[in-house]
Amino acid sequence: MKTRSWIALLGLAALSACGQRSTPRFVYMPDMAYSPALKAQEPGVQPPVKGTIPTNYRGLAPSLTLEDAGKTLKNPLERTATVMARGQNRFQTYCLVCHGPAGEGDGTIVPKFPRPPSLQSDKIRNYQDGNIFHVITHGQNLMPSYAAQITPEDRWAIIHYIRALQRSKHPSAADVQASEAE
Ligand code: HEC
Repeated sequence: MKTRSWIALLGLAALSACGQRSTPRFVYMPDMAYSPALKAQEPGVQPPVKGTIPTNYRGLAPSLTLEDAGKTLKNPLERTATVMARGQNRFQTYCLVCHGPAGEGDGTIVPKFPRPPSLQSDKIRNYQDGNIFHVITHGQNLMPSYAAQITPEDRWAIIHYIRALQRSKHPSAADVQASEAE
C-alpha cells in the first residue's frame, strides 16, 4: 500500500475510536470527573465576602450630572480622625499612583501614564465635594471609574483627605490664626 493510503487508514481508525458514549469506559480520576457542579450564584454556596461591592453598583444615580452632583450632594461624614485616616489610606491606595502624594499630578506611574491635572488647582479647590464624588464614581476621560473598588463612604472619606491636602498647600487665614493661637 502507498504511504498516503496508510495515513487515510490510520485516520479512519482514530475516528472510529471516538465512540458515541458520553461517559468514558475508564475514568482515570473519578473525583474530578464527577465533582458536584455547584453554581457560584446559588444562594448559600458562595456568600460574597463582607464588604463586596457589585460591579454595577455606583452609589449614585447614573443620570446625575457632574454639575448637579456638586449642587445636590453633601459629604455625609464628619471630619473625625478616623475618617481622615481612612481617607488617607484609600487615597494612598487608589489615587496616589496617578495624582501623587499631595495630589499634584506627580504619581508614581507618571509619565508612563499621562500626568493628571493637579487636585491643588483653583478648579478642584472650588469644586464642591459632590463634584469630586462624581469624578471618583464615574471617572472622567482617561481616569477610570472607581465605583467598583471604593465604597461611597470611602469616597467621601477620600474627599475629606483631599481637602486636608489642599489646606496643607493653601493654608487660609483661619489655619494661620488657629496655629498662632496655640
Ligand atoms: C489611572 C490614573 C488615575 C487614578 C488612579 C486616579 N485618577 Fe483622577 N484623574 C486621572 C486623569 C488622567 C485625570 C484627568 C482626566 C481628564 O482628562 O479629564 C483625572 C482627573 C481627576 C479629577 C478631576 C480633575 C480636573 O481638573 O478635572 C479628580 C477630582 C480626580 N481625578 C480625583 C481622583 C481621585 C480622588 C482618585 C482616587 C480615588 C483618582 N482620581 C484616581 C487619573 C487618575
